[in-house]
Amino acid sequence: MSKYMTDLNLSFFLILLMVYVTACEQPNQAVVHKNTPLQSNSTSDSKIVIGFSMDTLEEERWIRDRDLFKAAVERLGAEVRVMAANGNDAMQIIQAETLINEGVDVLVVVPHNAEATAAIVHKAHLEGIKVISYDRLIKNADLDLYVSFDNEQVGELQAKAITQFVPKGRYVYIGGADTDNNAHLFRKGVYNVLQPLIAKGDITVVYDQWTKNWLPMNAYENMKNSLQANHYKIDAVIAANDATAESAIIALSESGLSGILPVAGQDAELAAVQRIVKGTQTMTVYKPINLLAETAAKLAVKMAKGEDVGADRFVNNGKIQVPSVLLSPIAVDQTNLDETIIKDGFHSWEDVYQGQLKE
Ligand code: BGC
Repeated sequence: MSKYMTDLNLSFFLILLMVYVTACEQPNQAVVHKNTPLQSNSTSDSKIVIGFSMDTLEEERWIRDRDLFKAAVERLGAEVRVMAANGNDAMQIIQAETLINEGVDVLVVVPHNAEATAAIVHKAHLEGIKVISYDRLIKNADLDLYVSFDNEQVGELQAKAITQFVPKGRYVYIGGADTDNNAHLFRKGVYNVLQPLIAKGDITVVYDQWTKNWLPMNAYENMKNSLQANHYKIDAVIAANDATAESAIIALSESGLSGILPVAGQDAELAAVQRIVKGTQTMTVYKPINLLAETAAKLAVKMAKGEDVGADRFVNNGKIQVPSVLLSPIAVDQTNLDETIIKDGFHSWEDVYQGQLKE
């Protein structure tokens, strides 16, 4: 009897010990597996967890967004789970579902496809999780918040800069991805400025195409086609971002036109800024990503705590007027890159000028 009791006590003690050890391991697991799916529901500790579902990490700007957003959320005492779908719609939805199932407190989404990601908002809401659209708008969904730049203004800044150089002439527009709402806003902004000049007969847009999935090789094809279709008689190029501008410039240089025609881009990527110094790209649009990341982080954490996010603007996404925060973009050319990009530490003086000399 007493031996039986001793065995029982020992078994009970061992079970208790196992439960204790398992409980102690959980927080460590969460730390070790940061940015990979959680083994346990995030609500098991009190730390706020923000899910960050990204379209891609295959472009310079999005790596910066990820790093800045993660750092900003962590400074606020919360944690981020990042998943990137690298341009695959189905993958982005599955990854978002994973984050939802892990029990993140708020989901922040950079949509690859403005329409397809509406499903993510729906699924998140079924679990009581609010969704913030980051940089790109999710359309036709009951989105909780949109944090971005004034993207129509991005296009306006590009067209204002290029019309200074070419007030009359034949323009090529290399657009972004048709599936990205921003691409439509950038293009709209460009036409806000060009339209009166088109109406006067000063400017003709001789080529205007989307760049499927924002892929540089598609932009290169577009630029090649625009040159051939117009017998190389074009006067200016506006490209929706720096990666597409780079492809356009490669195609122009193959025709001996690089550095002769003005070219606009966007994102202030290092290579683009170096091209501005060199003179093959005329301007870029600088969007202080640190402000975007910090604003989105601050509002995501507030939202997770159930606090008011205080958005003062509204953007129609086809379904509702989405509470929005829109930051200001800045046009950058040779004359002001020191006082903008370099002053802000977005790129270092050495990278911009000496990286350039090394080429
Ligand atoms: C962003 C740009 C970016 C592009 C391609 C757009 O939605 O606003 O900054 O270059 O996507 O990733």
